[in-house]
Amino acid sequence: MKDRPEVQPARGKLGVLLPGFGAVATTFVAGVEAVRRGIALPFGSLSQMQTIRLGQRTEACTPLIKDLVPLAGLDDLVFGAWDPIPDDGYESALNAGVFDRHEHLEPIKGFLQSVRPMEAAFDKRYVKKLDGPNVKKSRSKRELAEQLREDIRAFKASSGADRLVMVWCGSTEVFIRPGRAHETLAAFEKAMDADDHEIAPSMLYAYAAIKEGVPYANGAPNLSVDFPALEKLAADRGVPIGGKDFKTGQTLIKTVLSPAFKARMLGVAGWYSTNILGNRDGEVLDDPESFKTKEESKLGVLEHVLQPDIYPELYGKLYHKVRINYYPPRGDNKEGWDNIDVFGWCGYPMQIKVDFLCRDSILAAPIVLDLALFLDLAQRAGMKGIQEWLSFYFKTPHTAPGLYPEHDLFIQHMKLKNTLRWLAGEEPLTHLGLDYYDHLD
Ligand SMILES: NC(=O)c1ccc[n+]([C@@H]2O[C@H](COP(=O)([O-])OP(=O)(O)OC[C@H]3O[C@@H](n4cnc5c(N)ncnc54)[C@H](O)[C@@H]3O)[C@@H](O)[C@H]2O)c1
Repeated sequence: MKDRPEVQPARGKLGVLLPGFGAVATTFVAGVEAVRRGIALPFGSLSQMQTIRLGQRTEACTPLIKDLVPLAGLDDLVFGAWDPIPDDGYESALNAGVFDRHEHLEPIKGFLQSVRPMEAAFDKRYVKKLDGPNVKKSRSKRELAEQLREDIRAFKASSGADRLVMVWCGSTEVFIRPGRAHETLAAFEKAMDADDHEIAPSMLYAYAAIKEGVPYANGAPNLSVDFPALEKLAADRGVPIGGKDFKTGQTLIKTVLSPAFKARMLGVAGWYSTNILGNRDGEVLDDPESFKTKEESKLGVLEHVLQPDIYPELYGKLYHKVRINYYPPRGDNKEGWDNIDVFGWCGYPMQIKVDFLCRDSILAAPIVLDLALFLDLAQRAGMKGIQEWLSFYFKTPHTAPGLYPEHDLFIQHMKLKNTLRWLAGEEPLTHLGLDYYDHLD
């Protein structure tokens, strides 16, 4: 097994930087404050609520994850954000309409108002349905990246944070394929100088973060840090990175159900997924170019879980369709509806219908928290570059070149927990369990 690293303690404050201060980001920040004040519980967060088994089942040793590894405490978190829309945390949370105004926002109004977004590195050509006045001006993309680096340093000084992490909670940008500009750091920096269209704003945040030694995770499906130039920069600088696209509603269910079908060798003829949502994210995704980015992220899942190349009779003809429709009356309360055509013994067909009436940001906020805390842990453990063990949280897990992504939620979960055991100097669990029966021989 790889040698266990020395993990530095989580001393002082951890600054969480959020490019994008809309529904997900404000639900995360407001939720952390509500938990700190004892008016809510952090449901959905493994780092806060989940236990982890150590040793044999008979030992009954199951500490909380947060007691096993040294994570930053919620009281030590401070927040910074950027957004082209100048609304403070209170106005933005009100506008998102996720938390109940009277029960959860009014009691922490002053705190939320204290988080005001910095001017964004924003360009409407990458998010066509959006605009705002709180935007940086500059002569080149390189200069924008340098301004972001200055923001990071200024935030660290003013907030008193000892360490920082950054989680992209900004809108989904238009679809960009990795190209020449993304191959090497030299090509990337040259492209920034030349204002190349291949360099999207989210890449500038990722670059600025890595240059400042700040771990970076991408919660949206757009290309941001998942290309060779920034992967290498992150590895060279000892900075953990990860992504992409928070795995929250429909895809979470998809990566639970599809491994079950494969485990039982049930075939799948078709999987039709449709969504209606009415928040700002839904409006942005109404643009075909942003939708294409999301569609690619949502479509990849089944192919990797079901492996039609290995099981052509079961999954070779699977018809997979994903739709997202902007429907304002629903706000943040998305409805994700799935029709799954499966078949069993001798080919007899069956159907499964799933109707998940979910709350998008309620599902995403604990993911932001866990990613922030685990990325910080990874950095203190000297883990650098791509953090595949955090695949559990993403629709399109970031993996080393040449490795296929693992989408099965249960494998991802085991990998996450075994990585935490390893970090704590504990044995990984294999679930073999034959030794329990030795004394019965
Ligand atoms: N909520 C979920 O379940 C979920 C799941 C997976 C992915 N996501 C992704 O997370 C992101 C955030 O979702 P949301 O519901 O909070 O959306 P939102 O529209 O409420 O917030 C996104 C914010 O990003 C800002 N923004 C856009 N470009 C920016 C830039 N260059 N710099 C700084 N800010 C910028 C926008 O002004 C907006 O306020 C979206 O990309 C969404 O697709 C959300």
